[in-house]
Amino acid sequence: MRAWLMDSYSGVEQLRLGEVPDPQPGPAEALLKVRYAALNPADAFLAQGLYPAKPTLPHILGRDGVGNVLQVGAEVDGIRVGETVGILRCETGVETPGTLAEKVVVPAESLVRTPADWSFTEMAGAPLVFLTAWQALTQWNDPQGPPPERSVLLVTGSSGGVGVASVMLGKSMGLMVVSLSRDAEKRAKLKALGADFVFDPDDTNLVKAVSAAIGLKKVDLAVDCVGGRLLSQVIALLGYGGKISIVGRSSGTVPEFNTATLLFRRIRMGGVSVGDYAAHAAQGAWKEIVRRLEMIGRRPLVDSIVPFEEVQKGFARLTQGPMGKVVVRVAAPGH
Ligand SMILES: NC(=O)c1ccc[n+]([C@@H]2O[C@H](COP(=O)([O-])OP(=O)(O)OC[C@H]3O[C@@H](n4cnc5c(N)ncnc54)[C@H](OP(=O)(O)O)[C@@H]3O)[C@@H](O)[C@H]2O)c1
Repeated sequence: MRAWLMDSYSGVEQLRLGEVPDPQPGPAEALLKVRYAALNPADAFLAQGLYPAKPTLPHILGRDGVGNVLQVGAEVDGIRVGETVGILRCETGVETPGTLAEKVVVPAESLVRTPADWSFTEMAGAPLVFLTAWQALTQWNDPQGPPPERSVLLVTGSSGGVGVASVMLGKSMGLMVVSLSRDAEKRAKLKALGADFVFDPDDTNLVKAVSAAIGLKKVDLAVDCVGGRLLSQVIALLGYGGKISIVGRSSGTVPEFNTATLLFRRIRMGGVSVGDYAAHAAQGAWKEIVRRLEMIGRRPLVDSIVPFEEVQKGFARLTQGPMGKVVVRVAAPGH
C-alpha cells in the first residue's frame, strides 16, 4: 500500500510517499481502507521529536480518519466488514502506524460508526478535537458537573479544531461563549457558529473589551489552545474560582508568569490530555458529544480537503491557522 513515511524526527517536510506491505489486524483489531484522514498539530510535533511518543521508524502519522472495515480479528464483536467507521484517539498514529496510508489497523474498541447525517469528511477530523474539548469542559469534577448555564466560557485559538469543538460543545451546555481569533473573517464565522462575542487576541484593550461585553460577569472557564503571552490576559479575565483548561500552546511558551495572579481569586489551572481517555471512556464521551451536536443542530466543521499526494500543503494550512479541520482525501468513496 502507499503511505506517507516518516524516516526521521526532522519534521513533516521530510515525509516521503512510499510503498509498504499491507498491515495485518491482530485478534482484537480491524483493518480499514482509509477514505479520509485528518491532521493535528500533534502529528507535526511528533515528527519533530517534540512529543512523548517515539515510535519505531519509519512511522506513519495520522490519528484521525474514516474508512471502511476490510477485515476484523477473531475476537472482534460488533464491527462488521464493509461498515464505515471513525477512529477515537488511541495509539494509532502515535505508537503504531496511522491513517496517512491507504490502510490502517485500529483496535476495534476505538472504532465508532459515522452518525447517519454526517459526511465522511466531517467524521474524519472530529474525534480527537471533540474529545479534547469535552475533557477541557468537563475535567473539573465540580459537584454540579459541567459549568452551570450562562456561565462564561472563553476559548482561545477558537477557529482551530479544538477551538471550534469547544465553542459548539460550550453552546450545547448553555454557556455564554467568548471566542478569540486573530482573523476578522474567522471571527465572523465563529459568530455564525454560535459564539456570543468574538475578539482579536492582539487587541491591546482585550481585557477591557471582553469585560465590557460580558457585563457584570467574569469568565468562569477558559479553554486555552494558544498559551504564549495571551495567558496572563486570560487569567486577568477570570472571576473568583475561575478555571483554565490548558489544551495547547499554538503561540509557544508563556514568557513571564506571576503565580500571585492565581492566589486571591483561587484560580485553578488544569492540563488536558486526550490520550488519557481509556477506550471505554472515550466511547462514552463520544456518544455524549454526538448527542449534543445533534441537539444543537451542528456538525463538525471542515476547513479544507487536500489530496493524499499533497499532505504537506495540509500541514502548511495547519500552521497558518485553519477554520475547523484540515482533512486529507486518501481514497474517496467509489475508488
Ligand atoms: N492536550 C491535548 O490533549 C491536546 C489535544 C489536541 C490539541 N492539542 C493542542 O492544542 C492546540 C490547538 O490544537 P488544534 O487542533 O485546535 O490546532 P489548530 O486546528 O491548528 O488551531 C489552532 C488555532 O490557534 C490559533 N493560533 C495558531 N497559531 C497561533 C499563534 N502563533 N498565535 C496565536 N494563535 C495562534 C489559530 O487561530 P486564529 O488564526 O484564529 O487566531 C489556530 O486556528 C495545539 O497546540 C495542539 O497541539 C492538545
